[in-house]
Amino acid sequence: MASKGLHTLNIFLIISIASILYGVQLPIRTETKKSLGYPKDSLLNFTELTNEYGYDSQEHTIVTEDGYILTMFRIVKGKNCIGRNREPPVILMHGLLQSSDSWLDAGPNAGLAYLIADACFDLWVGNCRGNYYSRRHVSLNPDTDNQFWQFSVDEIGYYDIPAMVDYVLDNTGAENVNYVGFSQGAGTFFIMCSERPGYCEKANMLIALAPAARQTNTRSVLYRFLMGTVYNIEGFLKKTGVGEMLPKGSFGQEFLAFFCHLNSLTGRMCNMGQSLLDAFHPGSVSGETTRVLYGHFPAGTSVHNMARYGQSMKRRDFAKFDYGKDHNLKLYGSEEPPKYNLSAVSVPVVTLYGRNDGLVDVKDVKWLMRKLPNVVEELEVEDHLWTHLDVTYSQFTSTMIFPKIHEHLQSNSNN
Ligand SMILES: *[C@@H]1O[C@H](CO)[C@@H](O)[C@H](O)[C@H]1NC(C)=O
Ligand SMILES: *[C@@H]1O[C@H](CO)[C@@H](O)[C@H](O)[C@H]1NC(C)=O
Repeated sequence: MASKGLHTLNIFLIISIASILYGVQLPIRTETKKSLGYPKDSLLNFTELTNEYGYDSQEHTIVTEDGYILTMFRIVKGKNCIGRNREPPVILMHGLLQSSDSWLDAGPNAGLAYLIADACFDLWVGNCRGNYYSRRHVSLNPDTDNQFWQFSVDEIGYYDIPAMVDYVLDNTGAENVNYVGFSQGAGTFFIMCSERPGYCEKANMLIALAPAARQTNTRSVLYRFLMGTVYNIEGFLKKTGVGEMLPKGSFGQEFLAFFCHLNSLTGRMCNMGQSLLDAFHPGSVSGETTRVLYGHFPAGTSVHNMARYGQSMKRRDFAKFDYGKDHNLKLYGSEEPPKYNLSAVSVPVVTLYGRNDGLVDVKDVKWLMRKLPNVVEELEVEDHLWTHLDVTYSQFTSTMIFPKIHEHLQSNSNN
């Protein structure tokens, strides 16, 4: 029967995921990777990469109210920016299992971090808790304290996004920021607006790229299955002490980095895998980007956060984590998890979304837009094959999405 087959598959997945995460950390040394012919860019971090392409950048450390230590990068000046930077500063925030480096993997002609910096914006690129740049805490040890991994987008939106906004304002002396968020990077901004009165107004505007709030209509069967499985086995993983998912240096990530760089055939297979997870858009992600990006992806998150996505695809609203009636009552004072208050998203919102997005469906974006009180523009990307991951990895960002981003950043900036 189908359910029995699924059951077997689940057990198989439990065993492989557990062994991947629990036992097998397999970081390969950088020297070894160089000798194996890994592309150089896949081995560099944010500052090294930007410097290599002639962009001046800085590293900043931020501590959240609940003790997580986050890394933010700032591109001080775009290589092709003539004249002074515009104000206010811009915050750029990545999606699930990504890091700041995801904005660089497509190279200086397509990576959005380069394009925004080249247009003379003071660009700050964030990293949320749990990825390889933000895997630190003032008192918890991510390797031994499972408590470190008890977070999902609920906490990222409540603590990380406000901490980054405050830090950028303090550091630059600006009065507000312009915020560009992709997928989870936009969803967590809505959470901040709902839960932290006064914070939404610290942004002039939000540019939401394929924003992940409700995920009722996600089309990707593979993504649904993977996230649903993590949701189903979260309790089991927790008992065995597994709180972290797909960190850099794990067997899963190292395998992808190795396999995808090997040759053009394996590269195409990786591209195919990515399309199965999201949707097909032939030729959009270049071979070179595919060889590079798995050096920075997956960047790690918590099991709990992945489970959160598994859960949200089964719901029809955008709410906090559902722990079941009893625990909800204790935690929230109600049997149902509270819905996020999207009416509190007071900032002007611009949304760009792809018709062919397999992870954040157009129907859910439309649902979200109807809930937001201050939508300035919602625009479907002209290319009908535009997918979710195209936002960070397509070679066509400069024509497909950047002009709109640029237009709105410019009209919300001085000089
Ligand atoms: C990036 O690499 C440089 C040079 O190796 C190093 O000094 C820096 O600490 C690294 N930054 C991070 C955040 O890992
Ligand atoms: C949601 O936010 C709006 C705007 O801030 C506010 O007027 C309203 O009372 C909030 N609703 C709830 C249920 O908190």
